[in-house]
Amino acid sequence: MVSELKQDIQNLLKDITTNISKSKTTSELENIRINSLGKKGSVTLYLKNIREFDIETKKEIGAYLNDTKNKINKLILDKKNVFKKEYLKEKLRLEKIDVSLTPYEAEAGTLHPLSRTIEELYAIFADMGFTIVDGPDIESDYYNFSALNIPEEHPARQEHDTFYLQPDINGQRKVLRTHTSPVQIRTMEKIDLKNFNEIRYIIPGRTYRSDHDATHSPMFHQCEGLVLGKNINMGHLKGCLIEFCRTYFNEDNLPVRFRPSYFPFTEPSAEVDIGCKKENDGSLVIGKGEDWLEILGSGMVHPRVLQGVGIDPTQYQGFAFGMGLERLTMLKYGIPDLRPFYDSDLRWLKHYGFIPFDSPSLHSGLNGIFS
Ligand code: DAH
Repeated sequence: MVSELKQDIQNLLKDITTNISKSKTTSELENIRINSLGKKGSVTLYLKNIREFDIETKKEIGAYLNDTKNKINKLILDKKNVFKKEYLKEKLRLEKIDVSLTPYEAEAGTLHPLSRTIEELYAIFADMGFTIVDGPDIESDYYNFSALNIPEEHPARQEHDTFYLQPDINGQRKVLRTHTSPVQIRTMEKIDLKNFNEIRYIIPGRTYRSDHDATHSPMFHQCEGLVLGKNINMGHLKGCLIEFCRTYFNEDNLPVRFRPSYFPFTEPSAEVDIGCKKENDGSLVIGKGEDWLEILGSGMVHPRVLQGVGIDPTQYQGFAFGMGLERLTMLKYGIPDLRPFYDSDLRWLKHYGFIPFDSPSLHSGLNGIFS
């Protein structure tokens, strides 16, 4: 009886062993475990049946069954470990990296030439004691025009090709600022005259005019400059701007000419030209020759503009200037067309762009312009 039972159990173990060795997945293994050792599993049923046997048989078969159970558990565990190893092996095979392969060439971005120009302006003007400030792109009519002494019917308003926004609930139409000059007003309004000595600001930023061709874009950049204090005069303006032009264009002897001009917010006003030569092939050589090229507008801040922000023009004077940054960039780097500036064409950027970490090192001979 006992040996028959043992034989039976042995056969069962043999079948289970075969199934385990044939199994291919962990879920198959789990099924085998449930079908043999689970509540209704074949080995469990055997254990339940031995209750009917005499005590000796019970003891012997019970021990034999427990031994079988342990064997099955061990077989399942071993097989699980085999699966684990295979899985890891396969994973390693799939994720293998050939470190000897030639890597892809790293694509380094370039700094946009316009950003480069702005960095250069920062460097040059910071050297002369200027601080950078900015203002909003969307302006009220007051800041963009009226406060700058450009009254309602003034022709300058038409010349600016202004983009107007929809009127707000008060019927007021905001504008996309047509120049950076409104920030002059905003900065002067903030001056606390009790603790005021002098300010020197540069104001770079986006500006907008409804104009589009090879040298005009509806969105472009300007940089404004403003110096205000007691005893600031036209000599300071000239010294500062000559120094700027020569440093920016890297030409110690660059001819710089101040040509009388008109801007409503400055009096007197002057446009600044630099000496250049137009070659027969249309290219430009800066610093030599008999031609002149206009690069910026400037002047002494108009007394009416100072009065408008509560500054007494008999006590304080200032000078201001404004320049187009695309134009400055095109001139310095010989870029013939403005339109690709905003095309994000990688070929253009690679050609005209700069290595980002290569910051400008400009040597200006700044010798006491304001003293
Ligand atoms: N705002 C002028 C323009 O957009 C440029 C300009 C001229 C700015 C003279 C100034 C200035 O500050 O003094 O054409």
